[in-house]
This record gives sequence, structure tokens and C-alpha cells, in this order.
Amino acid sequence: MKKILVIGSLNMDVTLKVPHIPIEGETILAKDKSHNRGGKGANQAVAIRRLGANTSMIGAVGNDDFGKELLKGLKDEGIDTEGIIIKESDTGTAYINLDDDGKNNIVVYTGANFELTPEDIRSKEKIIKESDYCVFQLEIPQETVKEAVRICKKHGVKVIMNPAPAIKDLDDYIINNSDYMMPNESELEILSGQKLSEDNLLDICKLQIERGMENLIVTLGDKGSLYYNSEGYEFIDIIPTEVIDTTGAGDSFIGAFTNMISEGKTDLEALDYARYVASLTVSRAGAQKSLPNRDEADEFYRNNKMNV
Ligand code: RIB
Repeated sequence: MKKILVIGSLNMDVTLKVPHIPIEGETILAKDKSHNRGGKGANQAVAIRRLGANTSMIGAVGNDDFGKELLKGLKDEGIDTEGIIIKESDTGTAYINLDDDGKNNIVVYTGANFELTPEDIRSKEKIIKESDYCVFQLEIPQETVKEAVRICKKHGVKVIMNPAPAIKDLDDYIINNSDYMMPNESELEILSGQKLSEDNLLDICKLQIERGMENLIVTLGDKGSLYYNSEGYEFIDIIPTEVIDTTGAGDSFIGAFTNMISEGKTDLEALDYARYVASLTVSRAGAQKSLPNRDEADEFYRNNKMNV
């Protein structure tokens, strides 16, 4: 079995159930509040692990209750946490407004995640070397990601990059050395510096490939996703469902995609499976809480495959 490593963030999500997403200057009352284990990195690690892969994570938490809970959560999932470093600053926290349609906006206090240094990464080189695939997001410092990508390349580890949250001037080294770049629409806008529309999406993707991206997978919310590389492109529809909470949907999609390519599926086969996993995820509340295990995902895939 291939080994998948996630290098990225761990956050405690503080989710406020709100009647609508507040606009600038507006004060509203939340209907409910909950704490859930999250962080794009940890969510992706849990998504991958629940689908059955040998999974490890490198990241940082604070020396506090949230940090202990997040670490325990990963261990309970069976994720190798040898790469998790305890820092003196607070554990990362994400403040999530979740509306009645399952839509959200998120503000992340990065905390310990942003204390993860290139030096820390070098101290964990053995874990990277032993991995086959490494998944990244950008809730840790860019120079840390860059150093980790450099070590991945040194050891022939495939790089899956989720540029979230997006950085306007994402380092060319990261762009040129990622085997897969997986932004959502708004992240692609920031990466490309251009407002997206149905008319210019393909042109913008073409420019990104010319700029050095190898395989670009853009998640387009309820419009599905787009797979684009130098050989062509393909649109992939979503699997419709009743949406309860979109938190972690992208993470489940990326996790499932990575899991499937690690099992030898083609990119398009992997994207096909990933959309079922994302559909199951949005039909439930919470980030990690909503991620399906392999049996659930396989069953959902089998039962709904013929209806599409
Ligand atoms: O992708 C969803 C995640 O983004 C949440 O769990 C939150 O922690 C933020 O990092």
C-alpha cells in the first residue's frame, strides 16, 4: 500500500449556525455554536485515512487543550502523528459562519500552524522520504511549503497542492514542482489575477499550464470540477444531494482524489470517485465529522452510480 503524507494545518473549528452570512457592518445572532476538529491539512489527512490509506501528517499545534484534542483525534483515526510538533503559541482556530443553505465563510487564526518552519520540515525529512504522495495547503507559511516541496522532489514524492487560502504571488518553484494543483474558483482568481467567468475559465486554465502547472483541477462548487492539462480538459459534474454543510467539501474531494490515484486509478477515475465522496460530505454537518469511511463511500458510489 502506498504511503500518503499531508503537510499542513490543524485547526479547532468554532462553527456558528447563522440565519445568513453577515454583510459588512451587520450584527446578527447565531442560532447555535459548536466546536469541531478541522484545519484543511487535518481534514485532508482524515479524509485519506478513512478511505483506507496509510496516512501520516506533519504540522503544528499549540500546547493547549485544543492542540491535545486535535492530536488525539488524528491518533484515534490511525494517522501517524510522529510529524506533529507542539509549539508554545495557541493552536490554530477557524471561525466559521454557516448559513441555512450549508454555505459558509471562514476566518482562520493561524496560531501554531504559522510557527511551522522550514527547519521543522528538514527535521522530518525521513517521513517525507518514506512517502509516495504528499498533499499540501497554504495554511502554513509559504517558505515552509517550498522547503517541503524541495524535499519531496529530492525523494521522488508526488506533490498534490491545494493552494488554499490562495496567495497572489505563489512561488514559481511551488507552481512548477506540483504534480497536481487543486484550487477552487476564488483561489484560481487570486492565483491568476483575473476575474473568472464561464467565458474565460478555459483560457485562464491554459495560461496556468503555460505558466508551469502540470495538472490543474479546479473545483467549481455546484458546477462540479474541471480537469485541465496540456493534453486537454474535461468537466466533471457534481453528484447532487441535499446540502447541509459545505465545510470540508474541498478537503474530502482532494483527499479522495489522492487516495484513488495512490491506488493506481487514472486521474479521471479518481475524480469520478472523489465527487461521490464530496457529495456525501456536504450532506452532513461538520468538517472531519462529515467525512465518510471507505465502506460508506463505496456503497454510496455503487448505489448512485447508475442514477447519474
Ligand atoms: O476547508 C475547511 C477548513 O478550512 C476548516 O476545517 C477550517 O479549519 C479551515 O481551515
